[in-house]
Amino acid sequence: MLSKPKIEVRPIQSKRELDDMYYQRWLVLRAPLGMHRGTEKDKHDKSAFHLVAVCEDKIIGSARLRQLSVELGSIAYVAVLSEFRSQGLGTKLIKKLIEEAQEKNLKSLRLMARINTLGFYKQIGFLEQGKIFDFMGIPHIFMYVNLPPSGDNAGVQ
Ligand SMILES: CC(C)(COP(=O)(O)OP(=O)(O)OC[C@H]1O[C@@H](n2cnc3c(N)ncnc32)[C@H](O)[C@@H]1OP(=O)(O)O)[C@@H](O)C(=O)NCCC(=O)NCCS
Repeated sequence: MLSKPKIEVRPIQSKRELDDMYYQRWLVLRAPLGMHRGTEKDKHDKSAFHLVAVCEDKIIGSARLRQLSVELGSIAYVAVLSEFRSQGLGTKLIKKLIEEAQEKNLKSLRLMARINTLGFYKQIGFLEQGKIFDFMGIPHIFMYVNLPPSGDNAGVQ
């Protein structure tokens, strides 16, 4: 019997992997909206922490963490290739970013959730805040989670 290919969730390791990650981000988050290559990047990417899920040398998932202030971080560009969804990969990416944020002593995390992914972030412990707004023609809402200190994850599911 063939064994399942191994999936690794870890930080970006090379320039080539960074480029592959942008392509995967574009495929999942921008191509379906008819947007061109390049629209998947922003000015904060250079200083941000990038996490990827890799299977047989292919980037199948990715997400970004960046620090907004001493206490607040933001998660963005959470993307899993459609054929790898509903296997816990998105959750694993977010939980690893939460650990990273705790190591940076951040106290809370914010993200802009597409409304149709609200349930995904809620099951991890994020809560909605404020009103629904439009971004790129898609309804979004801000969500937050407070982080317990490193090693104590009682508040986060
Ligand atoms: C949202 C996304 C990252 C989730 O990744 P995933 O690997 O499928 O997530 P998980 O397998 O960890 O999901 C765990 C649970 O979250 C919930 N969930 C996952 N995606 C969901 C969605 N789109 N809407 C509501 N609940 C969702 C489900 O309860 C799921 O459990 P189940 O598969 O047993 O039903 C993925 O669907 C994706 O890349 N979507 C397209 C891009 C996108 O919208 N990104 C977010 C931008 S804010």
